Amino acid sequence: HCNVVVLISGSGSNLQALIDDLGAGDSPARIQAVLSNRADAYGLERAKAAGIATELLDHKAFADREAFDAALIARIDAHQPDLVVLAGFMRILTPGFVRHYQGRLLNIHPSLLPKYKGLHTHQRALEAGDAEHGCSVHFVTEELDGGPLVVQAVVPVNVNDTAESLAQRVHVQEHRIYPLAVRWFAAGRLQLGDAGAILDSEPLPATGHL
Ligand code: GAR
Repeated sequence: HCNVVVLISGSGSNLQALIDDLGAGDSPARIQAVLSNRADAYGLERAKAAGIATELLDHKAFADREAFDAALIARIDAHQPDLVVLAGFMRILTPGFVRHYQGRLLNIHPSLLPKYKGLHTHQRALEAGDAEHGCSVHFVTEELDGGPLVVQAVVPVNVNDTAESLAQRVHVQEHRIYPLAVRWFAAGRLQLGDAGAILDSEPLPATGHL
């Protein structure tokens, strides 16, 4: 089994999709623990309901990012993960953290990267008048939201869309592609190579729609 630790900060709907998918009998991955930096993250309830160990590590209890990330690494590594999954974890990670998990750290971002790194992605896609929007799973590197792409899903933007309606449509796709990517990794099909992500020994495109 591939041991997975999931990091969250909020609702945890992506965590729920992972719990539902990886809980199936044929799953090559097992979620060992869910860590949150926020006590009020609803995802903690989802994990408890699924019988998964939860841990809270409040970033406000630490003097700086380095101290928080060092404590986070210690908590994560206690579970000996093969893969660490960021699922709505809303903290910027230090270079030291990212290097420690190089090649075994995935993130999901609500845009068609390299477009709209950072926050408010749905609003920004609307304001730009984009006809298409979507989400991306990528390996995490030191460049914020800039690591090698693994898989993307595209949704249409409708004329009547608000940031909320667009976010909902993107979420449906997030819940498809994140379990898919985690299964690929757990099955040994996905790795981080020198020039980008590699799926079944085929290099994946570095940018743009996959
Ligand atoms: C998701 O849309 C995810 O893509 C986004 O936060 C949301 C978490 O939702 N992540 C980021 O913006 C990372 N910068 P969830 O808690 O329901 O999974």
